[in-house]
Amino acid sequence: MRRGSIIQIAAIAIIAAAIGTAVALLIPWLPTAAGKEADRIDFVYWFTTVIAIAVFAVVIAVLIYSIWKFRAPSPDDWEDGPPIHGHTKLEIVWTAIPAVLVTAISIVSAVVLAQNGQAGPDPLLVKVHAQQFAWEFTYPNGKKYGFMTVPAGRSVKLELNSTDVIHSFWVPQLSQKQDAVPGITTSIIVTPTKVGTYPIICTELCGLGHSLMRSHIDVVTPAHYTAWVKQGGSSTTSPGLAVFQSNGCGSCHTFTPAGSTGKIGPDLDDLKAEAARAKVPLTAFVHQSIVDPAAYLEPGYSDAMPHIFGEQLSAAQLDQLVHYLVSGAK
Ligand code: CUA
Repeated sequence: MRRGSIIQIAAIAIIAAAIGTAVALLIPWLPTAAGKEADRIDFVYWFTTVIAIAVFAVVIAVLIYSIWKFRAPSPDDWEDGPPIHGHTKLEIVWTAIPAVLVTAISIVSAVVLAQNGQAGPDPLLVKVHAQQFAWEFTYPNGKKYGFMTVPAGRSVKLELNSTDVIHSFWVPQLSQKQDAVPGITTSIIVTPTKVGTYPIICTELCGLGHSLMRSHIDVVTPAHYTAWVKQGGSSTTSPGLAVFQSNGCGSCHTFTPAGSTGKIGPDLDDLKAEAARAKVPLTAFVHQSIVDPAAYLEPGYSDAMPHIFGEQLSAAQLDQLVHYLVSGAK
């Protein structure tokens, strides 16, 4: 091959690599990593992406060069090109290079997988109970919550189970995912490093309320965590708001005190007017609408709200939620 051709192919490859790199870097593909495991998984992504960009650049360069140099000189040219038989050296090269790359990716992935299965010293053990359509987190002192509070920098070992169908625990910023399966206990380790609040999302289609099966994890400083445990581990938000948020009420309903703007269900800011139309006293109306949503349907709305909250919420949570909604209703 002439030296000029190699320079031309290299030039096309550099342009293709630059475009591939720009697409990889300029678009925020991944959530911001907030844990040790997520940092390692991101490393595997980037390691693989660099290899993929290199392969892409070479393939595109050869393709464009071939189309450009070996095109038919005129539309009337139907002559065959010269017959070429196999090129053993070339075949060895294009088999050996991918073999080396795939082996490198396997080794890096296996190391990360092994590291991500290791808890640091003194992990915090949290039992996670999943059911249609809510999460429950039991702490070492036996207290149960609908959300998680954990200290930054300490490994958290989650032991998951489910009462009904398969669910899956996922916090995008912590990267790790694990199924909650009826009848067996599964586990994962997350080591949050960045203080903040992140969503806990069920990532296994588990029924009608799957999209509502959300909670949140508060990652706080170790000092804040110690104080949280000492003061009895209550939510930093009001208990009613916590129930409202962890059951995803705001994704369908507007309610100004909770800062939610959902438009699928009736506006909860108008609860008083709605109770009047239903001819039910306000507190009883709110209670009834949660437990038996079809008892009264606001004009213009269908029976779309899941009929699960009567069973899913404990009596205390239901009281907290009703109280919260009634006190915020205009
Ligand atoms: Cu639980 Cu999807």
